[in-house]
Amino acid sequence: MAKVEPKEQRCRAIQVTPGKAHSARLGEEPYAKPTQGEIGLKVLLVGICGTDAEIEAGLYGEAPPGEDHLVPGHESLCEVEDVGPGVVGFQPGDLVVPIVRRPCPENCEPCSRGRWDMCLTGDYSERGIAKLHGMLREHLTDEAAHCVLLPGDLRDVGVLVEPLSIVEKAIEETMLIQRRTGLAPRRALVTGAGPIGLLAALCLRGRGIAVDVLDQRPAGSPKAEIARAAGAGYIDDSKTPLEQATDGTFYDLVLEASGYAPLVFRALRRLGRNGAMVLTGVTAGHHKIELDVDALNQEMVLENQVLVGSVNAARQHYEAAVRDLKAWQETFPGLAARLITARHPLSSFEAALTKDPDGIKSVVEVAGR
Ligand code: BGC
Repeated sequence: MAKVEPKEQRCRAIQVTPGKAHSARLGEEPYAKPTQGEIGLKVLLVGICGTDAEIEAGLYGEAPPGEDHLVPGHESLCEVEDVGPGVVGFQPGDLVVPIVRRPCPENCEPCSRGRWDMCLTGDYSERGIAKLHGMLREHLTDEAAHCVLLPGDLRDVGVLVEPLSIVEKAIEETMLIQRRTGLAPRRALVTGAGPIGLLAALCLRGRGIAVDVLDQRPAGSPKAEIARAAGAGYIDDSKTPLEQATDGTFYDLVLEASGYAPLVFRALRRLGRNGAMVLTGVTAGHHKIELDVDALNQEMVLENQVLVGSVNAARQHYEAAVRDLKAWQETFPGLAARLITARHPLSSFEAALTKDPDGIKSVVEVAGR
């Protein structure tokens, strides 16, 4: 008798109730055999970031329509297990990263040309964040067209592709802005030495730009060591405040990755003539500060400065991330892998959310090692 394959199977998954604090639990989710244009994936690793912490705290996130829970997890590294009909270019065993954001149902103009990161309606969905389940689960079926293929030798750092895609877009934005000046940026300041800040430092150093990284950890901390290993300077703002450490130095490019909004306006004052500053941190707080807005306005006008926000990433940025991770194997051997500082099993997802001031990127080993 022919073997009948079940259409739907179940696997272990983390589930949260959006809007409810600390609701994360280990449950089960169905997954189907891939149909036309789809691939079946085994989830290997999931990176945890501030967005996941906000979802777990009940401050962010939205369940898929008609469901009462969300499977979080948007930074991942997966392996192809099964290839559906009509899929070309993917084989079982290939490494892939599913793209987080999907076009809005209205298919607005940017979404229709693959720039869902610039969606105009705001109706987009995001895997593991809004309206679409994420990757904190053992298996997943996804559209091949929304997955990015990775070379096999990026297995140890492939989970960094998604956060790096955010950096690639932010840097592309500032480079586009700086084209108005006819000059390439030469000096950059990166505020925040978390994963986004350190990946930005590597990206900018890789482009030959002089970089200073600022954080609040001591000069001997792992964050400072990685910044220095990338050839960047390091400023411990808690010991020597930014204003003092950079007295007389102004930057062509400032990339804000601390997610601490009051720092945005201190760093903005370190921007030089024709400089551009890009903000990447999603801040959920309500900090209030007093600002000399006349001085700020005058400086920005007289010095042709630009302040820009940047969110999410399109396929081109994921592909740039893959190219950079490949290039860093030569230029910064072993450095990107040092960003992964903690590993947890799926069953202790919450432990991956605990903050360690010297930790950089925590990952959940969904498939084990
Ligand atoms: C993700 C982005 C997403 C943003 C806002 C970030 O953590 O990396 O892909 O667009 O959160 O939801």
